[in-house]
Amino acid sequence: MDKKIVYSGIQPSGSLTIGNYIGALSNFAELQEEYNCLYCIVDMHAITVPQVPATLRKNTLDLLALYLACGLDPEKSIIYIQSHVPEHVELGWILNTMVGVGQLNRMTQYKDKAQKQKEVLAGLLNYPVLMAADILLYQASLVPVGEDQRQHIELTRDIAQRFNSHYSETFTLPDIMAPKVGARVMSLQEPSKKMSKSDDNANGFILILDDADTIRRKISRAVTDSEGVIRYSDEQPGVKNLLDIYAAFEKITAQEALQHFEGKNYAALKEEVAESIIAELSPIQERFHELRQDKEALEAIYKDGAQRASALARKTLRKVYRKVGFVGRY
Ligand code: TYM
Repeated sequence: MDKKIVYSGIQPSGSLTIGNYIGALSNFAELQEEYNCLYCIVDMHAITVPQVPATLRKNTLDLLALYLACGLDPEKSIIYIQSHVPEHVELGWILNTMVGVGQLNRMTQYKDKAQKQKEVLAGLLNYPVLMAADILLYQASLVPVGEDQRQHIELTRDIAQRFNSHYSETFTLPDIMAPKVGARVMSLQEPSKKMSKSDDNANGFILILDDADTIRRKISRAVTDSEGVIRYSDEQPGVKNLLDIYAAFEKITAQEALQHFEGKNYAALKEEVAESIIAELSPIQERFHELRQDKEALEAIYKDGAQRASALARKTLRKVYRKVGFVGRY
């Protein structure tokens, strides 16, 4: 039997946080052993909010080097840049004709992001449709992402179902694959909010490329509470978040993390959390800096990835064009 297809993407919109790492990126490498994986750098999604062109180019290559530093292997997976495979946009357009504006208006991530923009661009509203196209083009069954993407995956299933029933069976319906622990890493400063690099307060997030001292400082300043007892409870969201982060980095359950810290104080918790993050991230940072220097090697990887992705994408698009009623081009 053919291996199932795994698909995921990350926006090259600046440095990634440990939220991105725990929720998505850290889970990518081991999936390569069991599935056929495609990992995309979604630059077309990134431009749904304003970008500086030179920075976007730099961030795209940074993210490619980071993928590799985290163990993605171009021999095992297809690693590519979204804008190199125009089929995403072609399918995205067709899917746009099958989804209501009302449904897009109800996407919580859209509402959050739209609030922060002076002018809301149509691309931001249509963002989830392009994401659906990314996934459906490759007939992916599983999508490893954080909890914040669940609604987008549900929309993707909805669109696929609509297409399948309107025309005929065409798309595989994908399932979300969220990690057991850390599917929603919270801000270190406001643990009721998701950790995000767009947070105004840099102490709220840790970047994958933050140095050891910065990580220690940010964790030591993390907001906790006045209870002084370590429990895993929604009443202590700051402590709970630290336990989740620890569990994710140690690859244990939240319950095991709690047992480990039972009877210890917050200072000890913070110290161990920081050291656990540093132990995992520092070899990744080292590999990142090395890989990032070899522009030619990076170019060879993304060119090869685009070719392999295009070949698969064209297969689906050809079917879709025929079903929709376009005169064949391929
Ligand atoms: P993006 O670039 O915003 O985030 C990348 C991944 O990081 C996860 N994530 C988190 N996980 C846990 N806790 C957090 N605080 C946290 N913050 C971010 C996200 O869930 C995501 O998995 N729309 C996607 C990119 C995308 C995509 C796709 C993903 C475009 N096309 C196709 C999968 C399949 C996004 O904006 O991710």
